[in-house]
Amino acid sequence: MPDPCTLLIFGATGNLASRKLLPALYHLDAAERLHPDTRILGFGRRAWSDEDWRREVAERLQTQLGGRLNGEVLGRLSQRLYFVPGDLDRADDFRSLVARLKGGEGFPPNLVSYLAVAPQYYAPIVDALAAQGLQQEADGWSRLVVEKPFGFDLESAKILDRQLRRHFGEDQIYRIDHYLGKGTVQNILVFRFANLLLEPLWNRNYIDHIQITHAEAQGIEQRAGFYDRVGAMRDMIQSHLLQVLTLIAMEPPPSLDAEALRDEKVKVLRSIRPIARDAVHAQAFRAQYGPGRSGDQRLPGYLEEIDVAVKSSTETYAALKIYIDNWRWRGVPFYLRTGKRLARSQSLIAIRFRHPPQRLFQATAIERLEPNWLLLNIQPNECIRLEIQTKPPGLEMRTQTERMDAGSCALPPEHIDAYEALILDVIAGDHSHFLRYDEVEWAWRIIDPVLKLWATERDFIYTYPAGSWGPPEANRLFDREDQDWRNGL
Ligand code: BG6
Repeated sequence: MPDPCTLLIFGATGNLASRKLLPALYHLDAAERLHPDTRILGFGRRAWSDEDWRREVAERLQTQLGGRLNGEVLGRLSQRLYFVPGDLDRADDFRSLVARLKGGEGFPPNLVSYLAVAPQYYAPIVDALAAQGLQQEADGWSRLVVEKPFGFDLESAKILDRQLRRHFGEDQIYRIDHYLGKGTVQNILVFRFANLLLEPLWNRNYIDHIQITHAEAQGIEQRAGFYDRVGAMRDMIQSHLLQVLTLIAMEPPPSLDAEALRDEKVKVLRSIRPIARDAVHAQAFRAQYGPGRSGDQRLPGYLEEIDVAVKSSTETYAALKIYIDNWRWRGVPFYLRTGKRLARSQSLIAIRFRHPPQRLFQATAIERLEPNWLLLNIQPNECIRLEIQTKPPGLEMRTQTERMDAGSCALPPEHIDAYEALILDVIAGDHSHFLRYDEVEWAWRIIDPVLKLWATERDFIYTYPAGSWGPPEANRLFDREDQDWRNGL
């Protein structure tokens, strides 16, 4: 049973809390993974009472889960919910918060302060927590959860780190990248290091290239205020996709200990060839969606979305080619790609093996002679698929592509959200699936030169129709003509 604790959520009435955190807590409660004394204290601008928040959360969960909402679990969760209205800028409101926390109402002294707010509030909240002594670990532990983006570039990440570490130690900080809580992403470690079969092939001698794609059918929804400043490269590639890359490319760690794991991930990031200014054009690509269609429905272009700046050149699609200059990977390109308003929502790691040295067989009339692909599907389904060549039944000595699946490639996805696993890790004090500061800094070092050049070239950006797979010009990143994007399983 995990420790009893108080989860103090800043931004409790915001998007992240209602879309992700509270549903995750509901599911953890349903699975009896929370200590019975766990309390959730929301802090937000609305002038709500505990009861108001409980009602609001119940309505949100009802909309999300519909008939699957279990009344008994909801009742249990509701009893854990408390709310303090307040403004992040007002010291008095923080004092009321602490008065509530320490007022003998039974809030457990172990404290998780979860910053589900816009990044500009991180430093002021941390200062205010420290002013009230809440960073101290006198009666229990005190942990801080920080959402991405961790900074806007290398310099701002360094500043933010200094601000947080004035009051919290590295061992108290949990930099969350929710991709690290996804089933298939966690499976990378098991799949690679619990099987002997793969390791001899997992290198430059056998692998042609690797693609990591996060495609979304949705647009930017109501997030223009955030997204228009940030763009796809910062939003997805600097964090989620580079994290996936480190797990795919890392050496076996000596143990599963958080430091051992993160040491190996940092080694990968440090081995990435820096992208020189004159290589940006060959290694990075950006584009923005214009109007398009999905079936009969017209999809608006990015510039038509509410609150997007007139003539914005923020990228909604970004692709990056990366080389890792170490013994294992030298010469193997890693293609990272993400986009909003693409043809389908799909997150996939696609590993293409080299062709056999001799081509003895012809492919069937409908198939090209295909190499082996290993596909690790992150979503919508969690599964791993190996594509191999076999002989079809009949008299001909030809090849056909057959698929070997592990997990549910065809079935509807089972519900487990990344946040469930990660919240439990914070309560258990396990940093394995959280970023150490040096990972953040190295990730910015890789991306920064690209962003700097893009910032000076704001007058031209490729476009693609909403609902498509992005602009064909993105293919210029490929090393060879026979490489192409793999869009699905
Ligand atoms: C977030 C990004 O970190 O990840 C969003 O800010 C993106 O823009 C989201 O949509 C994708 O995560 P998921 O879990 O919905 O695939």
